[in-house]
Amino acid sequence: MKAIIIYNSKTGFTERYAGWLAKRLNGETVRYRDRNKMDLIGYDTVIYAGSVHAGFVTGLKWFKKQLPLLEGKKKIVLAVGAMPAGEEIAANVASANFTQEEMGDIRLFYLPGGLCYEKMGTLDRFFMKLFRKMLASRKNPSAEEAETAKAISHSYDIADRAYLDPVMDAFMQSADF
Ligand SMILES: Cc1cc2nc3c(=O)[nH]c(=O)nc-3n(C[C@H](O)[C@H](O)[C@H](O)COP(=O)(O)O)c2cc1C
Repeated sequence: MKAIIIYNSKTGFTERYAGWLAKRLNGETVRYRDRNKMDLIGYDTVIYAGSVHAGFVTGLKWFKKQLPLLEGKKKIVLAVGAMPAGEEIAANVASANFTQEEMGDIRLFYLPGGLCYEKMGTLDRFFMKLFRKMLASRKNPSAEEAETAKAISHSYDIADRAYLDPVMDAFMQSADF
């Protein structure tokens, strides 16, 4: 089975997951910025990986535009964010990014990455500062908000290859989704 992973990564977490996965499934990786240089026709499995920004998977609009070309192929989307793994975050990412109909044909996985302020662009650092300020201004923060505020005060890395195990299972399934 021939697989390709197109990944959109700003600070390296999604790129790392794409590299790990490509090794495990013996596939190819292509950076998002090179997306127009390739032809998806020759692949049985097309995987799109993008980081989550304000709840949305970056570059997903482009991937969705390719869907008519991808009929009959296995389609997997990896959403990489700063939040720890969990059913709630996975469900939120799914509902913010896909319709029920789209979810019928695509497998979506949320993968925890982390935060890297050192590699972040000026604008993204600014947005994160605003987000931190917003959380800090809460008079009665919930336990979750307090935990998030603490976590995002610095860079951290919670990416782990083990999070790709369910993705590998989906890849190995021969049946259509
Ligand atoms: C402006 C901005 C918004 C973000 N929004 C979210 C978010 O809604 N949910 C989340 O889990 N992570 C969010 N993040 C964190 C990134 O998704 C996280 O750092 C991810 O690991 C980055 O992947 P990359 O290194 O491949 O770009 C945000 C980061 C930035 C800079």
